[in-house]
Order: sequence, then structure tokens, then C-alpha cells
Amino acid sequence: METGGNMILENFKRESLIPLPVVFISTISEDGIRNIAPYSCVMPVLRPLDLVCVASAKMRDTYANIKSTQEFVLNMPGVDMADKVIPTAMHVPFNVDEFELAGLKERPSKKVKAPGIDGCYAWMECKLHSIHEEVYGGFPYLLILGKVVHLEVEDNIYNKEDGSWDIEKAKPLMMTGSDRGMHFSTASDIGKFETFGAMFEDGKDPLSWMHKEKEVQ
Ligand SMILES: Cc1cc2nc3c(=O)[nH]c(=O)nc-3n(C[C@H](O)[C@H](O)[C@H](O)COP(=O)(O)O)c2cc1C
Repeated sequence: METGGNMILENFKRESLIPLPVVFISTISEDGIRNIAPYSCVMPVLRPLDLVCVASAKMRDTYANIKSTQEFVLNMPGVDMADKVIPTAMHVPFNVDEFELAGLKERPSKKVKAPGIDGCYAWMECKLHSIHEEVYGGFPYLLILGKVVHLEVEDNIYNKEDGSWDIEKAKPLMMTGSDRGMHFSTASDIGKFETFGAMFEDGKDPLSWMHKEKEVQ
């Protein structure tokens, strides 16, 4: 990479410089219509908690469904599902079944009514915790906090011994932005590892007691 100068960018472009996950959020309306939307502004809220935070515009069927049913599923796709991003991102009427529209098969959830998506590598079933609503610069948006009530990952990418997972195999779908649009990518392992304890003087992870894994069928 050539060094020497730096570009100064418009502040709103902060989003395009952070590689973001692409997560499919599946929900179901009160009338039973299944909905899917890709979301990238999704993050876990701190390590010891079971909360996730989704930043959403207000004009979303996803938001309407979460508000009325109080639940949703975060489905983690691999790069093989990249061609499902646009079909699920299309603005279609509320009564369109987006599983059918995108040719995706449902995967029954264990703790919520909203179905998950078959073919993803992990599923986070969530119950609504809270919605923080704000208008910023005239733009209404929401921070939706969900509590994960059931979490599953595909056996063949997960190592039960230490809770690590094989990102080379799962190839999580990610994206960065440019002026023209979205560039899709994945993550790769650089072979460096540190324990959580390495952040502390005594070398001990204060949260190590939390890791008592439960086997999933
Ligand atoms: C890769 C990708 C990431 C997106 N991330 C978000 C996001 O984080 N928040 C959001 O409100 N919309 C996001 N969108 C836009 C929604 O997916 C899109 O508006 C979709 O039609 C909403 O569907 P719905 O009305 O069925 O909920 C994203 C779109 C794409 C393609």
C-alpha cells in the first residue's frame, strides 16, 4: 500500500470503512406473513450480556413485525447466500411472503414463532427487550434491543472443545460500502490468538465461569 497522504472523507461515510456483517432478520406478522430483510447495523451488546442491538430505519416491515410480535431471528449467512441479499432487500408490499419471493426455505425456530432461514450457519432467536426511538437531523430511526433466547450454530463449523468456529469453512457474508453501493466480502483467520485473560494483569478472565457449553442436537 502506498503511504504519504490521507483522504479526508465526509463524516457520514464512517459506515463504509467498517467491514460489517450481513445478517438476515426473519420475522412473521400477526397475520402469519413471513418477512426477511438484510441488516448490517447489527451488534452484540458487550461480551457477558445476551443482548443484541439492531439499528433500523422506521419504514421497515421488520420493525412493524418486531413491534407487534415482540420477536425476531438473526440468521447468519455464508457467502453462498450473497444472491439472496437483493431479493430480500427489495421494497415489496407488506403482504408478500419474502421466503417465497427469495426462494428460501424456513427452519423452524425453537423458542419464537418467527421461522429461521435454512442454509445459514447460525441462528439467534430473540425476544424484544426495548426499542429506543429518536429523530436525528430530521431522520427517524430506532435502536432495537433483543434478548437472545435461543442460539444455535451448525455442528460442522463449531468446535465444542473450546467454542471456536471455523470462519474459513463458514465464510460469513460481510460488506463494505463505496459511493456506488455495497461490496461483499468475508473474514479470514490470520492465525493470531490471545486469551481474554491477556487483558488483565493477573492473566485471568473474570468471565471464564460463564463458559459452560451445552450440547445441541
Ligand atoms: C446489505 C444490506 C444491509 C442493510 N442494513 C440495514 C440496516 O442495518 N438497517 C436498516 O434499517 N436497513 C438496512 N438495509 C435495508 C433493508 O434491508 C431494506 O430496506 C429492506 O427492504 C427492509 O425490508 P422490510 O421492509 O421487509 O423490513 C440493508 C440492506 C442491505 C442490502
